[in-house]
Amino acid sequence: MPVRVAVIVGSGLERLALLQDVTAKAMETPYGSPSAEVRIGRIGTTEVAYLARHGPGHAVPPHRINHRANVWALKELGVRRILGTSSVGSLKKDLRPGSLVVPHDYLCLWDLPTFFDEKVVHATPQLDEAVRRAALIATRKARVRVRGRAVYAQTRGPRLETKAEIRLLKDYADVVGMTMASEATLAAELGLGYACLCTVDNYAHGIAARPLSFEQILEGARRNAEKVAALLPGILRELAAKGNV
Ligand code: HPA
Repeated sequence: MPVRVAVIVGSGLERLALLQDVTAKAMETPYGSPSAEVRIGRIGTTEVAYLARHGPGHAVPPHRINHRANVWALKELGVRRILGTSSVGSLKKDLRPGSLVVPHDYLCLWDLPTFFDEKVVHATPQLDEAVRRAALIATRKARVRVRGRAVYAQTRGPRLETKAEIRLLKDYADVVGMTMASEATLAAELGLGYACLCTVDNYAHGIAARPLSFEQILEGARRNAEKVAALLPGILRELAAKGNV
């Protein structure tokens, strides 16, 4: 039986041992190698393909992630739906670090990867309602607060945003990160359902009085990773229960 659902995990989760009965697959795609071996196993009762977005040991910086190889490899395995987990900065004072967000839309004013460099195809970007619903329902069942209406703004990285960029973005988006729009767009191009559970690990540059540093983001991500890890079995169960995997 091909595996129908995948999790692409971000900062903090690659080190946690979440999978059981694991088979690791080193894959090659027409776009090169994925960030890491795809690990196929069980989370709770659900069979999943599991991929560490930043590679083993978090060595791949956001602007060098081979998103095309990552998404292609999952499609090749038979995956139909992907749940991403990712770290974001908050653009709103009332969306505090420690919060969880499942964006319903995104914007990216910078360059995005595509599978259609040579062919005229215009995919309609969208986040998958079935994956979003499963993430929201399971998180709320676990009595964890989560925001289900939020716009994700993607910047290119690896540098953080300037205060001026954040002032611009904060009127149009709720959270900022460096990866979700790329994955969501590529998934849409291949007809895969994609949505993301984001952890708010910091206030974006200039939103809080305290100056922002990378260490602050890492510290937030570490703290929030276990929260997400604990929610994953329930989210995947919810997705499977609704016949969506
Ligand atoms: N900016 C961009 N990406 C991020 C941030 C941020 O403040 N926090 C976590 N990922």
